[in-house]
Amino acid sequence: MMKLIDKLAIMAAMLVCTNAIAANEIRLHHKEAGLKCNSCHINKPFDSVEMEQCLTCHKLPEKKTDYHGAPDKHDSPHYGITLECENCHREHSESEDYCANCHDFNFKVP
Ligand code: HEC
Ligand code: HEC
Ligand code: HEC
Ligand code: HEC
Repeated sequence: MMKLIDKLAIMAAMLVCTNAIAANEIRLHHKEAGLKCNSCHINKPFDSVEMEQCLTCHKLPEKKTDYHGAPDKHDSPHYGITLECENCHREHSESEDYCANCHDFNFKVP
């Protein structure tokens, strides 16, 4: 019978693998725009990406979709404009509606 410790080692190895594959995928909107890995990971590969890096190419968007009167997700009463992009916009995995931890605005995050 396989020891628990071996099972854990295999699971850990699988996790590392999946992450490596996922990180090679960038979002379609960035692929089509011709971004490379170092467009965002500007120092050593692959250090964390600060939100200032996103803001070298993007202005914080104007409030756009109304979502039935929901507030501006890019400028909220709690966080103002300081909430890290990657709380919602993920580069290498599904994006997520961070506000949905507590509210039902149902933001669709690209
Ligand atoms: C548009 C910006 C952007 C581009 C382009 C990009 N990344 Fe990332 N990368 C991020 C962000 C932001 C994170 C943090 C986690 C997340 O949002 O998915 C990250 C995380 C990672 C991580 C995990 C690092 C850690 O500390 O956990 C790896 C590895 C990585 N990226 C590799 C790559 C590779 C390889 C490419 C090119 C194929 C690439 N990235 C292109 C923004 C980018
Ligand atoms: C090197 C420039 C560059 C960097 C850095 C960059 N982007 Fe982009 N991004 C673009 C371009 C170009 C597009 C496609 C044109 C557009 O929609 O603005 C795009 C598209 C997007 C879109 C889709 C817009 C839509 O209309 O659906 C989102 C969301 C986005 N970027 C978020 C981010 C986030 C978050 C980061 C930081 C992790 C980031 N970008 C870093 C250049 C960049
Ligand atoms: C609380 C979640 C959240 C955070 C944090 C967030 N965004 Fe967004 N973002 C969204 C949603 C939802 C949309 C879809 C636009 C809409 O529906 O109005 C969006 C759309 C965008 C777009 C496309 C704009 C367009 O006109 O369609 C860009 C570019 C973008 N965000 C960049 C950023 C950057 C850069 C940051 C960090 C500085 C950031 N966002 C932080 C939720 C978020
Ligand atoms: C950890 C839980 C939590 C998260 C995450 C969260 N909120 Fe809230 N929010 C609350 C609570 C609790 C209240 C009610 C108490 C209050 O007004 O401070 C509230 C109230 C609000 C209000 C009404 C406050 C006012 O001044 O009128 C708005 C607007 C709002 N949130 C927007 C957002 C947006 C946008 C996001 C995502 C960027 C978000 N919230 C994320 C917990 C949260």
